[in-house]
Amino acid sequence: MQHFLSIESLDAATLLRLLDDAAWLKAHRRDATVKPLAGRTWALIFTKSSTRTRVSFEVGVHELGGHAMFFSGNDLQLGRGEPIRDTARVMGRMVDGAIIRNDSQADLEEFAAFSGIPTINALTELEHPCQVLADLLTIKERLPDWRRSRVCFLGDGDCNMARSWIWAAAHLGFELVIAAPGDFQPPAELVRSAGSGGITVTEDARAAVAGCDVLYTDVWVSMGREAESARRLEILQPYQINRGLVEASGKTPLVMHCLPAYREKEITGDVLEANAGLIFEQAENRLHAQKAVLRAVVGG
Ligand code: CP
Ligand code: NVA
Repeated sequence: MQHFLSIESLDAATLLRLLDDAAWLKAHRRDATVKPLAGRTWALIFTKSSTRTRVSFEVGVHELGGHAMFFSGNDLQLGRGEPIRDTARVMGRMVDGAIIRNDSQADLEEFAAFSGIPTINALTELEHPCQVLADLLTIKERLPDWRRSRVCFLGDGDCNMARSWIWAAAHLGFELVIAAPGDFQPPAELVRSAGSGGITVTEDARAAVAGCDVLYTDVWVSMGREAESARRLEILQPYQINRGLVEASGKTPLVMHCLPAYREKEITGDVLEANAGLIFEQAENRLHAQKAVLRAVVGG
C-alpha cells in the first residue's frame, strides 16, 4: 500500500490486514523493537482544526521511531496560493511522508501524485478513512461476529464520515443503515456504485435503529459547513441519539461517536456519558489504527 487516501480505494483484504496489525500494535505499544519510521521525518499539513487526529499522528510517528513536523494552513506558502503540486514536489524531496487534513480530496490526491512520498488522508470533505479504521477496530474488539453486525449511521448521511462508512460496508459486507433526512442523504449513485446490497438509506430514524448492534453519529455541522448551522440543527433533530432511540434498537447497542461531540445536539449528554468507556476507547484506537497505516505505507 503506497498511500492511504480513502476507504473507497482499499479492499477487504487490506482493511482486514490493517485491523490485525492495529490490534497487534495496540498489544505491543511499548515494544522498543517496532521502529519502522526510524530516521524518517513526516509532515502533518492541516488546514482544519484537529485534536484526535493531530495528537494521535504526532504520537504515533514518534512511537514508531520517526519525527513529526506540524504545519497549519497559514504556516506554509500554500496559504498564500502556492500550488499544491509545487508544495508536494518540495516536500517530496525533504520529508518521508505526509499526513494531510484539508477540504479537498482532489488536492490530497494531487499531493500524493506529485510528491512521490506516502500520503495519508487525515480528513477531507469526502472521507475520513483513519476514523473509520479506528471505529472498525473498536467494533471488532467488542463484537466477535462483527462482520455480521448491523450498523446505523444517524445524522448527516452525506458527510465524510458517512461516506467512509459506506465504503467500509461495501468492502466488508456488514449491514449499514444510513438514517438521514432527504437533503442530507448520500447520493443514490454513490450508494449504487458502492454495491447497495447491505446498505440502506432511510428518513425513518426509529425504524433504522431497530435490531442494530451499533449506533453511530458525527457532528451535524461539519467543519466548513458553519453557515448552514441553524438549518442543520433544526432538520437533523429527529436523528439525535437519545435514550428513546437507543431503546428503539431493541438491543444494547454499541453507541459510538467519532468526536468532537456536541451534547444535546447529535447525542444527549446522558447517552454519551453512559457510553464514554467505549467512545474514548474509540478515540484511543485512532493511535493504534494509524500506526498500522504508517507501518503499511512504509512497508515496515
Ligand atoms: N475525530 C476526529 O478526527 O477528531 P479531530 O477532528 O479532533 O481530529
Ligand atoms: N464530519 C466531521 C468529522 C469531524 C471529525 C467534520 O468534517 O467536521
